[in-house]
Amino acid sequence: MNVIKVKDYDEMSEKATEFMVDRINSLKNPVLGLATGSTPEGLYQRIIEKHQQDEVSFKNVTTFNLDEYVGLEQNDPNSYYNFMNEKLFSQVDIAADRVHIPNGVAADLEKECMEHERAIEQAGGIDVQVLGIGGNGHIGFNEPGTSFDSKTHIVDLDESTIQANARFFHSIEEVPTQAISMGIETIMNSKEILLLVSGETKADATAKLLHGDISEDFPASILKKHENVTVIVDEAALEWCRG
Ligand code: GLP
Repeated sequence: MNVIKVKDYDEMSEKATEFMVDRINSLKNPVLGLATGSTPEGLYQRIIEKHQQDEVSFKNVTTFNLDEYVGLEQNDPNSYYNFMNEKLFSQVDIAADRVHIPNGVAADLEKECMEHERAIEQAGGIDVQVLGIGGNGHIGFNEPGTSFDSKTHIVDLDESTIQANARFFHSIEEVPTQAISMGIETIMNSKEILLLVSGETKADATAKLLHGDISEDFPASILKKHENVTVIVDEAALEWCRG
């Protein structure tokens, strides 16, 4: 893993933007894997600004999102569909039919998972996958214990993930308990991966990622086996690694 240390969230977002704009501009038909959560928001905001300055276009870009909550309609304020639309897609020139986000209210969820996998394959695979990391080491919504061989699947969310994501909902009871998530193998099949890590709530996960063993108990640890991973991590997240 190529680890780039930065001062803070803003610098992480700046560097991530440079990285993504470079990839989008140098690939003929870029296929991007995208993440939600607070971590990539600064990246998306800056990409929009670059688009407004005519420095990047999504005309030839195809996207696949990592995950979606089961049970939330697309127009639910907390759906990842809504997040992506609001934070990125509605503000760049991407074609609607090139955007792929699992449908969390599909009548047949298993079929929806297979369809996401099939569409990724049909697009020729993911060129660059953007990732955040959960405090427990999850990537996408692949919680500790998920098989490294997993493809897009339905997951039961960890209690710690439900707690962490409750901040976006009115009450913890409203947080969905299941999600559709790309699997670990799906993520590992991406040609390149960009992992963004910021803030002291990720310090423990950062220490485990950088210094721990590769284990299904800590999903992000598998990234050490991928040959093209860049991690952009800020000082707050690295705090515990110094000791
Ligand atoms: C969420 C998402 C992940 C995200 C992670 C961290 O539950 N499913 O894709 O990377 O948890 O979120 P945040 O960036 O808000 O800390």
